[in-house]
Amino acid sequence: MKIAGTGRAMPSLSVNNDMLSVILDTNDEWISTRTGIRERRILSKERLEDLAVSAARAALVSANVAASDIDYMICSNVINNFVTPSLSCIVQGEIEARCPCLDINAACSGFIYALDLADALLKTGRAHKILVLCAEQPSRMVNWKDRSTCVLFGDGAGAVVLTDESEDFKAFKISTVSKTDPLYYQRAMEYNPFVMLPDSDAPMIMNGKEVFKLAVSSCLSDIKQALSLAGKTVADINYYLLHQANLRIIQSIRELLEISEDKFPHNIERYGNISSASIPVLLDELHEAGTFKKGDTILMSAFGAGFTSGACIVEWSI
Ligand code: UT7
Repeated sequence: MKIAGTGRAMPSLSVNNDMLSVILDTNDEWISTRTGIRERRILSKERLEDLAVSAARAALVSANVAASDIDYMICSNVINNFVTPSLSCIVQGEIEARCPCLDINAACSGFIYALDLADALLKTGRAHKILVLCAEQPSRMVNWKDRSTCVLFGDGAGAVVLTDESEDFKAFKISTVSKTDPLYYQRAMEYNPFVMLPDSDAPMIMNGKEVFKLAVSSCLSDIKQALSLAGKTVADINYYLLHQANLRIIQSIRELLEISEDKFPHNIERYGNISSASIPVLLDELHEAGTFKKGDTILMSAFGAGFTSGACIVEWSI
């Protein structure tokens, strides 16, 4: 599997920490020192579907692949306007693709899980060109009155086009451990005359400290196992693209691996945590900036609700 092109689309509304301090008992100093986040993008006028379509189109242009040549689409998404049909069905129609489509929900690890599925489809010859799209809107799940969660998240979409032209992916390590308490969001139920509705229709619940610890331990374990599967050392990696959830999580992992800061690019300061879209958005920004050279080895690692996590190693070839 080869990454042939990348794309992203972000909402136009930027909400900085000072704007949050007007509606919440918080301040820029707390948010930026505890998380590294200074601003995030929030969907207001646009719809998530529009963002997803723009990111998908950008990735197709970047790969120089026509939508009609895509033979499978995987969309990673936790929540959107529709429970059904899937977001990928909506995007397929708008970009005029004709391939089978499905959505997956592996929370913030969704990009790595989608890449793993795509790799399997390409290896078996069931597909030759796959669009992986991550479109996320955590702003519709968080409790905007809870300062310990809402300041962390933002919305956005990132995409990649994958082809079977070369074998650039050197290792995948994905894992799931059923631990639902640290982070969850319950869907509200529609009125049903035969069922007593639960009292609460609670927004996202998160135990930040527990998620922090799980994030560091699972990321470290995945990174080490992926390196071992690929027969590489920590020093062989040119760039570590980690899930952008908290700059302190990224720094903890970096310090434990004893690697210099320049190998850990980040954009969390501008976007906050955009769930599974965070790595493809960062990947696209770095690709656009010309950061990657042909032959660079990139390790991507994410973690999220579930508890899910995953890492993969790819050699850059565009
Ligand atoms: O994709 C996965 C998604 N989730 C994550 O990755 C979350 C991982 N966890 C974290 O990033 C951190 O645990 C947080 C940023 C959520 C919290 O940082 P912390 O250093 O663990 O802070 P804390 O929860 O221990 O809170 C410290 C204090 C508390 O006040 P008291 O009890 O010490 O008086 C909080 O009430 O900070 C307070 N606090 C805030 N103060 C100002 C919590 N949120 C805020 C806020 N502004 N926004």
